[in-house]
Amino acid sequence: MAVHIQPVKGTHDILPEEQGAWQRVRRVVEATLPLYGFREITTPMFEATELFERSVGVATDIVEKEMYTFADSKGRRISLRPEGTAGVVRSVVSNGRLRAHPLDKLYYFGPMFRRERPQKGRFRQFHQFGVEVIGEASPTLDVEVIALLMRLLAAVGAGALELQVNSVGCPRCRPAYRDLLVAELEERMAQLCEDCQRRVTTNPMRVLDCKVPTCGEATAGVPLLIDHLCGECTAHLDQVKVGLAALDIPFRLNPRLVRGLDYYTRTAFEVVAAGLGAQATVGAGGRYDGLVEELGGPPTPAVGFAVGLERLIELMEVEAEAPSVVVYLAALGAEARRRGLQIAEALRAAGLSCELDHGDRSLKAQLKRADRLGARKVVILGEQELAAGTAVVRDLARREQETIPLAELAATLAQAA
Ligand code: HAM
Repeated sequence: MAVHIQPVKGTHDILPEEQGAWQRVRRVVEATLPLYGFREITTPMFEATELFERSVGVATDIVEKEMYTFADSKGRRISLRPEGTAGVVRSVVSNGRLRAHPLDKLYYFGPMFRRERPQKGRFRQFHQFGVEVIGEASPTLDVEVIALLMRLLAAVGAGALELQVNSVGCPRCRPAYRDLLVAELEERMAQLCEDCQRRVTTNPMRVLDCKVPTCGEATAGVPLLIDHLCGECTAHLDQVKVGLAALDIPFRLNPRLVRGLDYYTRTAFEVVAAGLGAQATVGAGGRYDGLVEELGGPPTPAVGFAVGLERLIELMEVEAEAPSVVVYLAALGAEARRRGLQIAEALRAAGLSCELDHGDRSLKAQLKRADRLGARKVVILGEQELAAGTAVVRDLARREQETIPLAELAATLAQAA
């Protein structure tokens, strides 16, 4: 008995009718990124599990419960990548790129995998476009990277967005603040959700951006890192704010913004869209000055972001697809179909998209199909025409037709297209 196999929960197909929006994003990215000096990189979809444990962090939701991890035949632990930054940094280090490219500006597209509870805008296989700039610590670079993100989002027509910015400090100021926060949270333990009770020991800063309303109430008035940053982190954040203002990029300072990945230092940001419901973050990123060294490279500062493409495309206006078939070859009979094969190839060689009818259908049925495909011209190949070395070319919009010698067909149609 036949079985209907469904797509795996949380995965989805991108159907031909939807590809136009995906291609548009790609076109905008490819037109914009070279203006900023970026080049594309593609890294594997799976990596050693340890890479994500060391970068994203063992105590994050992503590594703790959302990774697809398996042992390969040699017993090595492998994970499908839950995000792109770790693989890019691994690649930069393992290929020794920093010597030749002390400032490496990279971008990538690709699928990511997280075993989250699926809902609108949240998938288990989703796609990101991301950029990483490796090799510069200046806050003006953070501003430039944010400006790039906002320019791209505007160029694809993502609509109204809010940019939120924060500083998550550095290894010099964060530990002392963390102790302060944990002490405060321990006092309020009973009011926190189950996840946050666990986070108090594993990842206390995440409690601050928990979406459970009672956690929000319970943490009202707790000390915030922004008031406990070291002098250098404060100066860095100030420079980012000044730079954003200089470029007229509106933003909201959100002192509770905490990213769900451990590698961040200093600048962290998210772009939130009004039209997306609960999963409203369309893109996010920040600085990760310690990650290159953590993964075996020389101490090297870096900053980047990633955009969730499913969420971005949800925000874009759908454009009507232009028909792709220009010429429809209506062949009447087996001999005409054989000649049709040659003619179709000649038309394609002349740059015309064309579709040949392979079925044994009546002219009426073939014309109907040509119309449905949106063809502009139909070339009718009948026995009589073939014998005379000609074809009838019908213009569907003008409702006119003419007889053209086969030898001139490609040139005539290409000229008219
Ligand atoms: P992230 O915030 O984990 O950051 O993900 C970036 C974006 O990916 C999110 O804002 C969201 O649009 C999209 N996204 C995440 N999870 C899902 C999901 N389950 N379904 C659909 N979309 C999703 C990162 O991944 C960092 N690597 C960003 C970065 C690059 N930071 C520095 N460089």
